[in-house]
Amino acid sequence: MDFSMAARLRGLPQPATIAVAQRARALKAAGADVISLALGEPDFPSPPEAVEAAYEAGKRGDTRYPPVGGQPALKAAVIAKFRTQNGLDFAPEQILVANGGKQIIFNAFMATLDPGDEVIVPAPYWVSYPLIARMMGGVPVEAPCRDADGFRLSPDVLRAAITPRTKWLVLNFPNNPSGAIMERPDLEALAEVLREAPRIWVLADEIYEHLTFGGRPHASLAAVAPDLADRIVTLNGMAKAYAMPGWRVGFAGGPLPLIRAMTEVQSNATSGVCTLAQAGAAAALGSPFERVAAMRDVYQARRDRVVAALRDMPGVACAMPDGAFYAYPGLAGLIGKVSAGGRPIGSDLDFSEALLEEAHVAVVPGAAFGLSPHVRLSFAASDAQLDEAMRRIGRFVAGCAATG
Ligand SMILES: Cc1ncc(COP(=O)(O)O)c(C=O)c1O
Repeated sequence: MDFSMAARLRGLPQPATIAVAQRARALKAAGADVISLALGEPDFPSPPEAVEAAYEAGKRGDTRYPPVGGQPALKAAVIAKFRTQNGLDFAPEQILVANGGKQIIFNAFMATLDPGDEVIVPAPYWVSYPLIARMMGGVPVEAPCRDADGFRLSPDVLRAAITPRTKWLVLNFPNNPSGAIMERPDLEALAEVLREAPRIWVLADEIYEHLTFGGRPHASLAAVAPDLADRIVTLNGMAKAYAMPGWRVGFAGGPLPLIRAMTEVQSNATSGVCTLAQAGAAAALGSPFERVAAMRDVYQARRDRVVAALRDMPGVACAMPDGAFYAYPGLAGLIGKVSAGGRPIGSDLDFSEALLEEAHVAVVPGAAFGLSPHVRLSFAASDAQLDEAMRRIGRFVAGCAATG
C-alpha cells in the first residue's frame, strides 16, 4: 500500500543538521578521524546516586504504572528545587513530569495550539520549538536576537512580533545555541511588554539554568514577574545540568488548568515516565549540588579556551557565551571565500560541509537554528578533542582565500 503521511507532517522542514550528521557518520565509517562538536549532550557520567536509586527502585518492585503526572517523591523533589533554586511555589498538581523537557513542549503545544495560532520563537532557537509548533498546526514566528544585543531578546523585537494570533512566547535562556542569558532587568523589560498582551502563554525553558558562567545568576521569569505566573510554564529537566539525557526525565511547573490539560495529553501518549528513571531523577535532585557546580566550572574553562582560539581566527567573530555549553561564532568574514580544497563558502552550511570534508570536524550550521551565518560548536567534549578541533578549524579558516 502507498504510504501517505498525515497532513500535519507534510512540509515540515528538514533540519539543516541532517546532511552534516549523515556525512560525518559516513566519514567515520570509512575510517576518518572525525571530531564531532555537533552534539548537545553532556560528556559526564550521571550521578551515582541516580544509578543507585534506580537500581533500588527496581529491586523493591517499584515497577507498576506511575501516576501520569509523576511519582509523588519526584514531584516533591521538583517542588523543593523550584522553591529553593528559583523562588517559585507550586502545589503538586501544578507539576508535570514528562519524558524529557521535549515532551513538556509537545504536551503544552498539543494542549493549546489551534491551526494558525502563532508561537513566537526568538532566533537563534533550539530546533524543536518551531518543528513541534508546526506539527500541531501552529505557525512559528521568528523574533531575531541580534549579535549586537548579545543574542538577548529585546523588548522592541518582542513587541513587534506580537499579533492577535500570538498564543505562545518561547524563552530559552541560557540559550541553545547562542549561550546568551537574560538577567533580571532584561526579563523585567520583557514582562512589561507581556503585560500589554494578556492572552499570551510563556514557555520558559530553563534547562541550562545551572550552566551560567562567571557567577552570573540565573533568573526565572515567573519569579521576576509573579503577576504573570498564571500564564508561565517553567520547564527544566535532568538532561543537561545532571548529565542524565538518556533517562528521559523533564518537568515543568505552571498554572493548574494548563498543567491539567498537558497531563491529559501525556495520559494518551505515554501514561507517564519510567518509574526507575523517576526514582533516579529524585535522587539526583537531592544529591550534592557541588557536583553540578564542578561540571559547570569545567564547561567554563572549556568555553574560555574555545572562545580564545576562535577569536584568533581571521574572519571569525565569537561572542562570549554566558551560559549553556555552546559557542556560536559568526562567519560573515568568511562568506564569499573559497576553502583550500576549492569549495566556495557561500553560507554557514557550505562552511560546515567543507570543514567536515577537509578538516574532519563536525559542527552545526546556524541555518538549523534560524540565525546565519554562524555555526554552533558544543564544548561538551574533552580538552584534548577541543584543542585538536580548534587546531583543525584554525588551519581550515587560514586556508580560506578570497576569490578572484
Ligand atoms: C533548549 C533545550 N530545551 C530542552 C531540551 C530537551 O531536553 P530533554 O528532552 O533531553 O530533557 C534541549 C535538549 O537538547 C534543549 O537544548
